[in-house]
Amino acid sequence: MTTKILVTDDISSAGIDVLSTLPDATVDVQTGLSPSELLVAIADADALVVRSQTTVTEQVIAAAKRLKVIGRAGVGVDNIDLEAATRRGILVINAPDGNTIAAAEHTFAMMISLARHIPAANRDLLAGNWNRKKWVGVELRGKTLAILGMGRIGTEVAKRAKVFGMTVLGYDPFLTEDRAQSLGVQKSDLDSAIRAADFITVHTPLTKETHHMIDAGKIAMMKEGVRIINCARGGIIDERALADALRLGKVAGAAIDVFESEPLALDHPLRQCENVILTPHLGASTVEAQENVAIQVAEEIVQVLRDDTFEHA
Ligand code: NAD
Ligand code: MLT
Repeated sequence: MTTKILVTDDISSAGIDVLSTLPDATVDVQTGLSPSELLVAIADADALVVRSQTTVTEQVIAAAKRLKVIGRAGVGVDNIDLEAATRRGILVINAPDGNTIAAAEHTFAMMISLARHIPAANRDLLAGNWNRKKWVGVELRGKTLAILGMGRIGTEVAKRAKVFGMTVLGYDPFLTEDRAQSLGVQKSDLDSAIRAADFITVHTPLTKETHHMIDAGKIAMMKEGVRIINCARGGIIDERALADALRLGKVAGAAIDVFESEPLALDHPLRQCENVILTPHLGASTVEAQENVAIQVAEEIVQVLRDDTFEHA
């Protein structure tokens, strides 16, 4: 019987090329499937490859009769029911570092855009105006940046912030004093970090502990005029509380790439706020990162399926 590898989100063709090297395998690319279409497509698949659009629920896993491995071309696996997969003995693999630089650079682009009003000034100019006074910004140099989550991406953001002359506070239960020192980062607890910061950026996974880690109560502790960035996962920040704080001016600006529900609803309150920069989950969207994660995950899948064929030979 041939091996079927089902790919349900757009991944770089470099990854498809790697998957196609597996002998006797068909690579079936079906993107934009409805939940019921996914249940049909998954039934005879040996491997599934996704990014963040496909939600791999318990029901999807139950419908998969031959599934051995799920590959996530990216970092976050919060769109996959890991418990259900584990119960069925299905391996879940990701590509943990292929898009680190892309996400860190997007975070920095967001931070600078916020500080200098670049998207708003651009819109204003294109509308025919020349408002040099309206768009006076702030410098990053001398400002305090709180990084919540000092893993791969948080660390790369910290390195860049140091070059810009920022004071960096790092909050992460796994950040050691030695590591913080070597990065020039001050290890901090959550409340101290957010109280002191001019800019706050989140880089944790979305878990039960990090869900709404930034809520109305935490926003109340922050400085007037703080600026907040989320290029990690929707749900780490309470979006409604953020929208309220933006409207009241407590938060001077927010740059958000990821949302509790994607795509972002047309009537979402963040869309009504003037001082926001919103991008449609673009953190990992560079040519380089997409090639990296697609190749990384495809190579692992080929390895798993090869080993499986070998075991059953
Ligand atoms: P990572 O695993 O390297 O780092 C995450 C860090 O968060 C770890 O150091 C961990 O100790 C820390 N952490 C976990 N729980 C915490 C908590 N309760 N409080 C404080 N720190 C906590 O992951 P990464 O590669 O740096 O990715 C970070 C996030 O960025 C993930 O949510 C990932 O899905 C997301 N991401 C988004 C994009 C995008 O397109 N916007 C791209 C890549 C990654
Ligand atoms: C990730 O977690 O890697 C990101 O969400 C990137 C993506 O898949 O777009």
